[in-house]
Formats: sequence, structure tokens, C-alpha cells
Amino acid sequence: MKILALETSCDETAAAIVEDGVKEVCSVVASSREFHEETGGIVPEVAARKQVEFIIPVLDNIVKKFSDKADTNTSIDYARENIDMLAVTVGPGLIGSLLVGVEAAKALSLAWEKSLIPVNHLVGHIYANWVDAEDLPEFPSLALVVSGGHTDLVLMGGHGDLIYLGGTLDDAVGEAFDKTARLLGLSKYLGGPELSRLASTCKDNKAIGVLPRPLLDSDKYDLSFSGLKTAVKRLIEKDIYPPDVIACEFENAVVDVLVSKSIKAAKEYKVKSLLLGGGVSANLQLRTRIKNEAANIGVKTHIPPLHLCTDNAVYIASAAYFNNHPRNLSEIDADSSLGIIDIV
Ligand code: KG4
Ligand code: ZN
Repeated sequence: MKILALETSCDETAAAIVEDGVKEVCSVVASSREFHEETGGIVPEVAARKQVEFIIPVLDNIVKKFSDKADTNTSIDYARENIDMLAVTVGPGLIGSLLVGVEAAKALSLAWEKSLIPVNHLVGHIYANWVDAEDLPEFPSLALVVSGGHTDLVLMGGHGDLIYLGGTLDDAVGEAFDKTARLLGLSKYLGGPELSRLASTCKDNKAIGVLPRPLLDSDKYDLSFSGLKTAVKRLIEKDIYPPDVIACEFENAVVDVLVSKSIKAAKEYKVKSLLLGGGVSANLQLRTRIKNEAANIGVKTHIPPLHLCTDNAVYIASAAYFNNHPRNLSEIDADSSLGIIDIV
């Protein structure tokens, strides 16, 4: 079964076709990132207007890529005949951006007479682990979703059986990376990768333990990152350590907390696999440490390839395949109640 999915929750306009939930057929991602770099942060109105501008070219492009693979020049007819279902991200995200994808998907659903499956963006991130994977995750699984807007620990008993264990009480982990990168003068917008690159150049972390590891010793699965960001600000003001040391200590503090909470949950719920998802799962230190520590307790870690960590529509199509509940079009709204918490 081939599913065509659309993803427009933030500043990416993406479309993808995935076969049987596990094989990427083709994918297109357009981004309005450069416009938000100018303002040093995302302006929702600008992001939504860019979605409107990009959605038709992205759809044209995915249909063309799909038919080129089959060596046919009747793109639209070929796509219509060979795509079985449609899927779209309905939330969470920026409402103006989401609306563009949802309305485009509804229109396509009516025109092509195909069912439409609504997908939660965060659940989607988890399904990046099913695409072109060497081996598929085994249940029960623990998923750590670390993105720019969310940080969640989710127990998966099976497809559609999700239990929210905990998550951030304030800033998301990606947001903390981005704000710290800005404090260090590395980047005004989405500086997580730059911060991580700087951290990797630090040869001698003279500031080990100087920053807090928030809620590390609490029994619960709650996380908190806003205090860490404030602690970094104070540390920079003291002017004791160079930027590479601060970046390294910040990254260590974040990864210490994420790995420790994930391993604690993996042990408590006796999971067979640990899944990473979301933009911050591109972080090299997090990938390496979580894999090693999970292996020490006999748990297999699944981590998406880098191109599937940040926003795209491939994992939305995969999530749709495994959670295949087509809805009546009138029930599908941007930001409709398909959040992880609602699924519990
Ligand atoms: O999942 P995503 O693409 O968008 C959301 O759904 O939010 O995540 C974007 C986030 C940004 O905060 C970005 O700085 C962060 O992922 N990120 C990283 C790395 N690559 C992306 N953070 C730390 N290290 C990285 N290598
Ligand atoms: Zn995302």
C-alpha cells in the first residue's frame, strides 16, 4: 500500500510517498528557514504564508518524482491510480501552517477519492524508526521524542497503544539548545547543530558538573530545561570558561538527564527497544550515549537516519500506515485532538 503524506506543522512544507509504512518511495522538503533567520525566530504569520506559497509546487514535485520512477509522463493520472491513501499532520504545530496542509490534503482527498488519515506530528517522529530500517522495533518500546517544541517519554505497547510517561514542564530540549546557541552568539535561529559542533571541539571540559542536571534524581519522568538555560546565561556573564567548554558542559548536562530518564523508564517498563525521534535525535552525543547505555541493560536502540530526524513527511506516511484509521473529512481539523496525551 502506498500512502502520500503532507507535513506542514511549522516551517517545512513536505510531501512523501511511502510503501507499506517501511519503504521510502520519494520525498520532497521545502523550507522557509532563511526567512526566520532574518528575524531570529519564527514568525507564525510568515511561516503560514510560505506554506501557502510552497504547497502546490511541493505537491507537483512529489507527483513528478513518483511518476519519473515509473518512467511515465502522465504524472497526475499515474499518481492518482497508484496512490492508495493520503495522510496529513493535524498537530501539534503552528495553526496557520497546519491549516495549509490539512486543507490541501482534504481537497486532494475529495478530488482523488482517496481516504485521508490524520497523524499527530510527535507520533510521526517516532515512526522514522520504521522507514528503511535494518530491523523493526519490537514492542514494548520506549520512545524519547526530542524536538524543537516537545520533549516526551512515551511507552508503546504496540501501534496505537501509547502511554505518556512524562516530558518537559517548561522549555523543550531543542528550544534549550537553540536559546543556548543564541546566548553563545552561535546562531539566532535553530542553533542546536552549531552548538553541538562547538561542543565537539572541546578537548578538556574544565566545567564538569558546573551546570545543573535538572530533575535528574526525581522519581518521576518529568523534565525541565528552562533553569539550565538561565544557568548558562549566568555562567557566560561570569566570563570564566570559553564558549567551547560551556557548549560541551551544556550538552553533557542535557544528555545526562535524557539518557538517565530513558534508561530508568526502559528498566521500569522492561521494554525491548528504545526509540529516538525528533530533531534533537540528530545530536551525536545523545545518539552514542543512549545506544551504549541501553545496550548495557540489553535493550536495542533504534535511531532514525539523520535525514529523517528533522521535519519531513516520510515518517508521517509511515505513522499513517501503522495507525490506519481513515476519518470522515468533516472530522479532520488542524490541531484536532490526536495528541499523545489524548491517545492514552
Ligand atoms: O523535530 P524538529 O525538526 O522540529 C520540531 O518539530 O520542533 O526539531 C528541530 C530542533 C531544533 O531545536 C534544532 O536546533 C534541533 O532540533 N537540532 C539539534 C541538532 N539537530 C537539530 N539539537 C542538538 N543537536 C543537533 N545535532
Ligand atoms: Zn518535528
